[in-house]
Amino acid sequence: MQPLSQIDREAWRFINSVSIVTVSVDGVVNAMSAEWCAPVSLKPPLIGVFVGEERFTRPLIERAETFGVSLLAEDQAWIGRVCGRHSGREVNKIAEFNLPVEPARFIDAPLIAGAAAQFECRVLERRVYGSHMLVVGEPLRAVGNPEKRAIAYSRGRFYRLGEEIVG
Ligand SMILES: Cc1cc2nc3c(=O)[nH]c(=O)nc-3n(C[C@H](O)[C@H](O)[C@H](O)COP(=O)(O)O)c2cc1C
Repeated sequence: MQPLSQIDREAWRFINSVSIVTVSVDGVVNAMSAEWCAPVSLKPPLIGVFVGEERFTRPLIERAETFGVSLLAEDQAWIGRVCGRHSGREVNKIAEFNLPVEPARFIDAPLIAGAAAQFECRVLERRVYGSHMLVVGEPLRAVGNPEKRAIAYSRGRFYRLGEEIVG
């Protein structure tokens, strides 16, 4: 059996959260939307993000020692849209779209203010899988905002979390 060269759209039913991955390298600061950003280990806590080879973020995160992850909240889908539809190659997204950023404590890249959660990570490991590079980070700081709810992304659309399924 040959492995698939592509997954059928009908089979693509993944549901993910929406993160903004921020990097700052040699004075270049960029923010990219990432649905493929998830915990990798609990003990120790590790967070992984997959960055496509065509992203402006890719050469930056290949060199970065640290990166930020901000989990978007219900009033921030627009940030996921602009950071996922525009490239830092053409535009300074933070300035052009007036993104609500705030300085981090331990890393150079800023974080998204008002996010549901924020993580400041130190790069532990990088590994390329086909088109994407997995960058695993150790959080130096992690904060959640109890007043904000994270959002979901699936098949190109943003969603609020719905009803809990009990049983
Ligand atoms: C909601 C959303 C989630 C995305 N998730 C990812 C992801 O996990 N990894 C990735 O490489 N690209 C992802 N993308 C695409 C990039 O965000 C997009 O190509 C962006 O323009 C790259 O920005 P950059 O060129 O400034 O790095 C996503 C786009 C959207 C809208």
